Amino acid sequence: MSSVDPQRRVLSGMRPTGRLHLGHYHGVLKNWVKLQHEYDCFFFAADWHALSSRYENSNDIAGHSLDMIIDWLAAGVNPGTTTLFVQSRIPELAELHLLLSMITPQAWLERVPSYKDLKEKLRDSENSTLGFLAYPLLQSADMLAFRAGQVPVGADQVAHIELAREVSRRFNHLYGREAGFEANAELAIKKLGKKVSGLYSQLRSTYLSHGDVEALATAQALVKEQNNLTLADRERLLGYLEGTGKTILPEPMEMLSDVSRLPGLDGQKMSKSHDNLIPLRAEPDEIEKKVRTMPTDPARIRLTDAGNPDKCPVWQFHLTYSDETTQERVQQQCRSAGWGCLECKQPIIDAVIAEQQPIRERAQQYESNRDLVRSIIAEGTDKAREEVRDTLEIVREAMGLDYL
Ligand code: TRP
Ligand code: SF4
Repeated sequence: MSSVDPQRRVLSGMRPTGRLHLGHYHGVLKNWVKLQHEYDCFFFAADWHALSSRYENSNDIAGHSLDMIIDWLAAGVNPGTTTLFVQSRIPELAELHLLLSMITPQAWLERVPSYKDLKEKLRDSENSTLGFLAYPLLQSADMLAFRAGQVPVGADQVAHIELAREVSRRFNHLYGREAGFEANAELAIKKLGKKVSGLYSQLRSTYLSHGDVEALATAQALVKEQNNLTLADRERLLGYLEGTGKTILPEPMEMLSDVSRLPGLDGQKMSKSHDNLIPLRAEPDEIEKKVRTMPTDPARIRLTDAGNPDKCPVWQFHLTYSDETTQERVQQQCRSAGWGCLECKQPIIDAVIAEQQPIRERAQQYESNRDLVRSIIAEGTDKAREEVRDTLEIVREAMGLDYL
């Protein structure tokens, strides 16, 4: 069985929502392309996750997954060094999700911000599904199944990685303890004296059954206050609170890289629903047309009106696409009404076209050979599945489910 170094292993997934755009390119894909030189990377189409909110459109998934993975390849993700796969082809991920669901307090999922937000929005109009409530746990299963220590995601996903850490600690606590650990911990509790031991036990069970992190913090402080404990008992009591026995499933950490956030053509977040995007691998005339019609500082009505780049989405594009000299020129020319907005946009048009050229060419190769794309995914999925199978063998053994 392969041994895994979680610190070298990167995992990330993306819901297949179809063709990607420049926001994805600058915010995610460029970072993936960089990471693949430094880490052992696994990237996947999270197609089960797509079902957690769009189950009625399941027919879109196949096309969207392939289009999305072609975009990854076109952006420079290298299938020779990086493992690309599709979530739904690895049934062991569902098995781990199920096993983890048995030990995860429901309250942990109910307090995940994305769930709370949606609940607010839906109110009584529609009921959200069990799959939607549980999807952050499915995401935990993704990370834990790969024993990935490093998970590159956006800030909106950090709560999900925290959940995965809590679940892994709980799992390790329940199934990773060394022989005799529990008896020794119970003995140590007795040594605390009646009052303190009662309080410790009560706080511990509040944390373990409801995931109440304040109870955990109070209990940790309580243990640290006891100065008549041996070092070993102290460690046992702290470990017994959260379970720091043997690590079976290592804790994942979010990897927040400093990526450039390219907004949409109108300055809002770039997204399909805002109709403000430039698609990845767009043709030169499409790029030109989109940039030329971009809104600018509304105060610049006539050529002679001075503008303010801070109020103009074009400036945001200059921050991503232009060097310092051009940026300085933009500031100066805009504020002095020295040039027109079309002139200001030209360097961006040129830069986007130049950036997209190799991406478009690579995409064409893959588009004209979709069987090659399928075989890249099949090969990646086989490799990924091997890793997950190894983890599940360990998990089943730890839980005592390897008896037949
Ligand atoms: N939930 C993530 C999203 O919506 C996608 C995702 C699924 C993911 N599983 C993951 C990201 C595991 C990182 C690791 O963007
Ligand atoms: Fe925007 Fe450039 Fe026009 Fe100024 S000159 S308003 S920065 S497009």
